[in-house]
Amino acid sequence: MTAKKNTAVYAGTFDPITYGHIDIIARAARLFDEVIVGIAASSKKQPLFTLEERVALVQSVLTDYPSVKVAGFNSLLLDFAKAHQANVIVRGLRTVTDFDYEFQLASMNRHLNPNIESIFLMPDENYMYISSSLVREIASLGGDVKGFVPEKVVLALQQKFA
Ligand code: COA
Repeated sequence: MTAKKNTAVYAGTFDPITYGHIDIIARAARLFDEVIVGIAASSKKQPLFTLEERVALVQSVLTDYPSVKVAGFNSLLLDFAKAHQANVIVRGLRTVTDFDYEFQLASMNRHLNPNIESIFLMPDENYMYISSSLVREIASLGGDVKGFVPEKVVLALQQKFA
């Protein structure tokens, strides 16, 4: 009997991707056969980078992870997971303040599809305080974001705010 393949989806807006996200992706890649990084259009958030730019940036910084694939989506997360035959949704939990929202999201997703399990991974403590909006704000004011995002993202932010 062949073992069932475990595919996880890790979704977010990734505006832009940070070392905190990459830390979660690396942990998920060690646990699952395949990880699909789902880039949500999130038009309500009015992202700084277009969906195409975010997909390209995320792809460019994840070349070291052969089991990780990247795709954009503009649908329910569960429909995206189903389209990729994923049986797990991975979420990152940084601090207790993330918990309420994550609890609500996971409960709603479980209600909508009980066959897809949400699991939570903690990023390295050095990345607990990073968020994409803080990175954008610091970069927009000319601050140094090298410690929070890969070089390619630093350059993309510099171009946006040039
Ligand atoms: N490292 C760094 N930052 C992190 C992080 C980590 N490990 N984990 C979360 N964050 C940050 C994100 O960068 C983001 O920062 P920002 O708000 O400053 O930009 C913030 O925490 C929130 O992240 P997240 O909870 O992943 O929100 P999101 O908007 O990026 O993604 C979706 C949320 C896309 C997963 C969710 O809206 C969704 O599922 N959308 C699809 C539609 C749907 O199915 N809706 C019904 C849900 S029941």
